[in-house]
Amino acid sequence: MKEIKLIGVNGSIRKDSYNRLLLQNIGFLLPDNVKMEIIEIKDVPIYNPDDENKLPTIVRDYKEKIRKSDAVIIATPEYNFSFPGILKNALDWFTRPPNDNVLQHKIAGIVSASSGMLGGSRAQYQLRQVLLYSEMDVLSKPEIFISFADKKFSPEGRIIDETSLGLINAFISNLVNKINKI
Ligand SMILES: Cc1cc2nc3c(=O)[nH]c(=O)nc-3n(C[C@H](O)[C@H](O)[C@H](O)COP(=O)(O)O)c2cc1C
Repeated sequence: MKEIKLIGVNGSIRKDSYNRLLLQNIGFLLPDNVKMEIIEIKDVPIYNPDDENKLPTIVRDYKEKIRKSDAVIIATPEYNFSFPGILKNALDWFTRPPNDNVLQHKIAGIVSASSGMLGGSRAQYQLRQVLLYSEMDVLSKPEIFISFADKKFSPEGRIIDETSLGLINAFISNLVNKINKI
């Protein structure tokens, strides 16, 4: 079977982030031929158009990883009914300069975890809108909203909720099928 490379982008920089745990749990459930590397956006500088032609090293490295990947999984918290500014900042870099937008036509999956009852759904829909402009090819279903995230993980960070695990397995399967179709 073909080797598949995924990049997981963690939209939270919090030490005990549920979204990082969510990405890690997706990693545990991947088939043997699929590998995921999680990238952290904490040290990505603030986007400045003046630096577009001399990209910061971390941005160049992350863009290269995304370019070489088969798909990207973005995990986002919900901040004030949207996704965090630090995630928007990283996505802005990844799309620039316009002739080197590494998100363009790249397959993507979006997932979210939130302590709230809607599981980050509002953040996801805003993120989908932003990814329309960058022309990412975003998986539609199933949608992964891990609500009440503080109750869905074991103390060791494993997802303990069977419904969530079932949806994540379906998400992985649909994402891999989408990758294999191209
Ligand atoms: C500034 C801020 C705004 C937030 N706004 C929302 C919100 O609008 N909806 C929601 O469900 N949770 C909201 N939360 C709760 C976060 O979704 C929750 O802290 C989540 O665990 C963050 O993701 P993380 O664990 O990956 O860091 C907010 C948290 C912060 C810090």
